[in-house]
Amino acid sequence: MFDKNLVRQFRELKTPFYYYDLDLIAETLDEINKHAFSRGFHVHFALKANNNDPILQMMQKAGLGADCVSGEEIEKAVGAGFDPSKIAFAGVGKSDPEMETGLRNDIFSFNCESAQELEALNELAGKLGKQARIALRINPNLEAGTHRYITTGTDDNKFGIPSEFLPGILDSLDRFKNLKLTGMHVHIGSQIENFKVFEAMCGRINNLKSFFTERGFKLQHINVGGGFGICYNAPDHHPIPDFKNYFELFDQHLERDRGEEIHFELGRSLVGQSGSLISKVLFTKQGRNTHFAIIDAGMTELIRPALYQARHHIEVLTSNRPNRTYTVAGPICETADTFRTGISMPEVKRGDLLAIRSCGAYGQVMSSDYNLRERAKAYYSSDF
Ligand code: LLP
Repeated sequence: MFDKNLVRQFRELKTPFYYYDLDLIAETLDEINKHAFSRGFHVHFALKANNNDPILQMMQKAGLGADCVSGEEIEKAVGAGFDPSKIAFAGVGKSDPEMETGLRNDIFSFNCESAQELEALNELAGKLGKQARIALRINPNLEAGTHRYITTGTDDNKFGIPSEFLPGILDSLDRFKNLKLTGMHVHIGSQIENFKVFEAMCGRINNLKSFFTERGFKLQHINVGGGFGICYNAPDHHPIPDFKNYFELFDQHLERDRGEEIHFELGRSLVGQSGSLISKVLFTKQGRNTHFAIIDAGMTELIRPALYQARHHIEVLTSNRPNRTYTVAGPICETADTFRTGISMPEVKRGDLLAIRSCGAYGQVMSSDYNLRERAKAYYSSDF
């Protein structure tokens, strides 16, 4: 991914920094066109994965909508040129000002997760003289087979409406004159690699539809959320997820009534492999049991390993010395600030550069200024 010329230019830049391969995103979007749009599917880009302007521009221009989880994300999406009629707003805790932002922009859908949210949204919509289009987010109690912190569709999770409460909620909708039910929403987790999980989810959705139809509701759309995983172990072998089979699966297993739209909210699978965190080796040191490479990126730039024990591939950019085994850790005063343990990679010395791969999603967006650290800059393949 990184040719010599690029690495030479990297040497001139202050580390750590994020690097994004926009060509890869363009190729990924071609696949979306080929396998999703060709089937009439609608795809929203989940801004929570990455909200950098050049990336949003590409998504918007390719015809994707936006999936937002805060008022600020809605404003960002509108500012980036996303058509508000393609903006979905999810979240278990939407504040009044955030709901107002959605209402003022006449967004595509509020994905509602509780009875109280419906009350509040109805009241705010009335005050603004608006009618809110809503989808009910159902919690199907389905295990996603991913890390428990990014599992959202089981009984223990705070997300969605348990299906047994759905009849009551549907019966109450009559009271809410400023809400219009247009869809059903399900999202059961992120970094899902097992297609069987999506297949089971389609089955649940097919069953849940009868709750709506029995009460005379005609759904305009089904939103199946996101969650399609990427390959963290071998990013160069799998730079683009298998969208062909992914969308084919929904085409085959999801029952679609006439005129019913299918919507997806994809984040990681669209941008994950495009980003790398480029960092410099500050020191190497021998511990009692382990040989450490201490690098200048930390959990402040990439919190995924500390938070989810995520393993990102590390590529050494400036050494072809024989391999040795390292613990690669950052400079932050936390033991969790460790990227990899027991990784075999070319021997590094102070000043060597390395790339932490697959950081395009949930990397930069989750960064912080803990320890008063400066935020890392972003560079794009088009800058070089
Ligand atoms: N829709 C909803 C309602 C979501 O909650 C999410 C992600 C998505 C769509 C997009 O999911 P994706 O296609 O990106 O898997 N920070 C974690 C991931 C958190 C995902 C949160 N929700 C990580 O670094 O793994």
